[in-house]
Amino acid sequence: MKFTNEINKLIGLRNSLTEPPGLVPTMGYLHDGHLSLIREARKRHRMLVVSIFVNPHQFGPKEDYHNYPQNLERDLDILKQENVDIVFAPAPEEIYPEGFDTWVEVGDLTRRLEGFSRPGHFKGVATVVLKLFNIIRPGSAYFGQKDAQQALVIQKMVTDLNMGIDIHVLPTVRDSSGLALSSRNVYLSVKEKNAAAILKKSLDLASERYQAGEIDASVIKDSMLELIQSEPLVKTDYISIASPQTLHELETISGPALVSLAAWIGKTRLIDNILI
Ligand code: PAF
Repeated sequence: MKFTNEINKLIGLRNSLTEPPGLVPTMGYLHDGHLSLIREARKRHRMLVVSIFVNPHQFGPKEDYHNYPQNLERDLDILKQENVDIVFAPAPEEIYPEGFDTWVEVGDLTRRLEGFSRPGHFKGVATVVLKLFNIIRPGSAYFGQKDAQQALVIQKMVTDLNMGIDIHVLPTVRDSSGLALSSRNVYLSVKEKNAAAILKKSLDLASERYQAGEIDASVIKDSMLELIQSEPLVKTDYISIASPQTLHELETISGPALVSLAAWIGKTRLIDNILI
């Protein structure tokens, strides 16, 4: 496994490859959700690059950038075991040298849900992902369905800018309580972690109510909210039932819908979703 934190070295390594690699972009502190992306990419590509970069520009000023969990040594051990060919883990100054001032803005999709709650978040995500794509020039890149809106935004950017990269979106990996795996779960106390299981339960409730014939989105959202409110440690940020393509809110569910939510468990903000 080759490791570099320098863009020029990475470009040298990339140029020595005979075909475009697969890419799994991460912010590190790897868990089984990342591993499912890495293993799928490993199966499909002769050469596999994993990037580890905690991107300062996708965190708001009051968010957890400075506390975001990191453990590069542990991540590198894991990536070695997964047979990853190249790891790129640049420092912020490498990606954003002094004077950096070019940004990527994807339109309407980024103003909804996470984009509404976290202004500027997707500008940071799209900019760093475009930079990683330009540096690594992958044939395919792999993202998790847990960040459904992120995957849509990146797919939109790739389509609109004719980037010719295949975007693969793989299912959310969950623990035995149903909690979606996230590096941020490390912030949760045992009590908070138990409480956080209500998020997936509320998504399952949405699915059950829809299967039972309820198609009024606001009725389903109300029942989800009521269930989440039964757990005093959890505060809902938003619950949405939206078109899985445009993220426009649905009044009536007449086809596939993305049920998504964000909630605070103490100081930790978690997101989750399912498709119904
Ligand atoms: O999902 C993530 O880990 C990050 O948002 C990404 C895609 C690596 C961009 O920083």
